[in-house]
Amino acid sequence: MRIDVFTLVPHAFAWLTEQRPIAAVLGSELELRLFNYRDTTPLRAGQVDDEPYGGGAGMVLRVDVVAAALDAVYGGAPSHPVVALSPQGRPLTQAVVEEFAAEPELTLLSARFEGFDARIVEQLASDAISIGPYVLSNGDLPAMVVLDAVARRLPGALAEGSGELESFSEELGGGLEYPHYTRPAEFRGWPVPDVLLSGDHAKIEAWRREHVR
Ligand SMILES: C[S@@+](CC[C@H](N)C(=O)[O-])C[C@H]1O[C@@H](n2cnc3c(N)ncnc32)[C@H](O)[C@@H]1O
Repeated sequence: MRIDVFTLVPHAFAWLTEQRPIAAVLGSELELRLFNYRDTTPLRAGQVDDEPYGGGAGMVLRVDVVAAALDAVYGGAPSHPVVALSPQGRPLTQAVVEEFAAEPELTLLSARFEGFDARIVEQLASDAISIGPYVLSNGDLPAMVVLDAVARRLPGALAEGSGELESFSEELGGGLEYPHYTRPAEFRGWPVPDVLLSGDHAKIEAWRREHVR
């Protein structure tokens, strides 16, 4: 899979690429490309935002800047999903993550300040995604959230078996995973449920199924 991120801070993604799961799939299952709007802006002095028509505070990411960036990379409108990260987008859920992970290519557009010129979302993007009902300062953390969630779904990202039985997975009927415990078996009078120490795999499996919420 190839994921392209358009941002003003490509260097901010460096730490993410050094961490699992992205580090585990980079160069094999995942090709990640980071593009800076400033590198292709048609405006002088690296300008990318402008004042909002109608007045008001803040700066808006220009449509011609994003169009130039997409043209430079794809030579026109790409046929794969182009996702604007916006608090006004549809909510990111595990189902959306699975949808994206099944795509061979995905483009993520980040904005900052007041956000995108509306024509970017309406005309240049094919989708808009919110990572939650709150406002962050820019789309880079949301892009990293999408990247991490999608990368976990790629073959080889996780240790065998650890990606299937997770919260929101089909295997758990979309529910929340059962609780996990590790050593010590008792701490400050807080015991681990006996069944998990029993060695009886059928009982453990039944207990876990019962505790999916
Ligand atoms: C300060 S926000 C703009 C908020 C916008 N003026 C509004 O009120 O809806 C700047 C940028 O951060 C990103 N962003 C902020 N919160 C987000 C969220 N919950 N999900 C996805 N992207 C978000 C988007 O790229 C957005 O354009």
